[in-house]
Amino acid sequence: MTGVICGTGACVPDRVLDNNEIAQFVDTSDQWIQERTGVARRRIAVEETTSSMAAEAGRQAIEEAGVKPEEIDMILAATATPDHIFPCAACEIQEKLQAVNAVCFDLNAACSGFLFAYQTAQAYIAAGIYSTILVVGSECLSRVVDWEDRGTCILFGDGSGAALLKAAEGRNWISAAHSDGKGGPALLCRGLNVTEGEKTGNLPGDSSGEETAAGNGRNYISMDGKAVFQFAVRKVPEVIREVLDANELSEEDIDWFILHQANKRIVESVAKRLKTDMARFPMNLQEYGNTSSASIPILLNEMNRKGLLKKGQKLVLAGFGAGLSWGAAVLEWGK
Ligand code: UT7
Repeated sequence: MTGVICGTGACVPDRVLDNNEIAQFVDTSDQWIQERTGVARRRIAVEETTSSMAAEAGRQAIEEAGVKPEEIDMILAATATPDHIFPCAACEIQEKLQAVNAVCFDLNAACSGFLFAYQTAQAYIAAGIYSTILVVGSECLSRVVDWEDRGTCILFGDGSGAALLKAAEGRNWISAAHSDGKGGPALLCRGLNVTEGEKTGNLPGDSSGEETAAGNGRNYISMDGKAVFQFAVRKVPEVIREVLDANELSEEDIDWFILHQANKRIVESVAKRLKTDMARFPMNLQEYGNTSSASIPILLNEMNRKGLLKKGQKLVLAGFGAGLSWGAAVLEWGK
């Protein structure tokens, strides 16, 4: 058995933040941001939360698939910005959707999160464990962006996307995923910020001073942009070739390459290295910026709703980001 995407959904916050507005609080310009990244504007959560957007995206996906909430066996939420450490976002989504029979957990692989969650869902389906799985990527990155750092605050945005997979007879495509913890410092968000060897215990009297594990100040994204850029343009074409070879396909067999939406120049460089026409690399990062685990399903949903995805077309999904982590999957559009 294989998992076929039978429905998609997406939800982004109402608040639009354009480049000119960012240029009012950091030293940058619309021209610089558009030329270096392709981003024109992004959405910022005000009242929306990671789980509220995910539930709305999920609701659309299950409605399109014609599935009742109680028929969902599993909810996998890819997120690096859950509303709470626990309960997990997937349980909060379950409650909002009344998907009472689903087993729920989160998966954090940063910008590779949706891709890794999709692969996890496929593995459960191939093993015959579950047959109806909701996969969601959802982020409120604006809450961990340093709005004084022009090197990162221009890039990110908030949003959520979802896909409903149902088990069906069909080919099990081989996918690929990789991680390299050595590259971790290149893209970091500290969270509880526990550092090995430092006194960060949170018992009264245990901490090294005024800083404690849970409250040691800035909890923002920091990034070596150049290092991440170089990693992406090298590893993404490599992993796409890896999955094409594994499935005995060539670039020409693929109708759409749906890449994580981080930077227009990364997408263009991947297309060039694969010697493939840019028209098969759709982008919507100009509207939403980098929404991490949500970017692939938001784009997938947009293409689905515009009627651009036809039954039998072959797609490659490719994610990359913090970890470092990267991967790709082939799928046949089955709706
Ligand atoms: O999901 C994965 C997440 N991360 C990524 O995909 C990020 C990958 N990296 C990138 O997208 C790019 O590295 C950036 C867009 C972040 C930066 O672009 P770049 O072409 O690598 O610029 P740079 O860091 O080499 O900086 C070039 C210049 C520097 O000035 P000097 O030293 O040449 O005088 C920066 O200080 O641009 C300056 N700069 C800016 N100027 C205006 C950096 N950020 C800005 C800014 N506005 N926002």
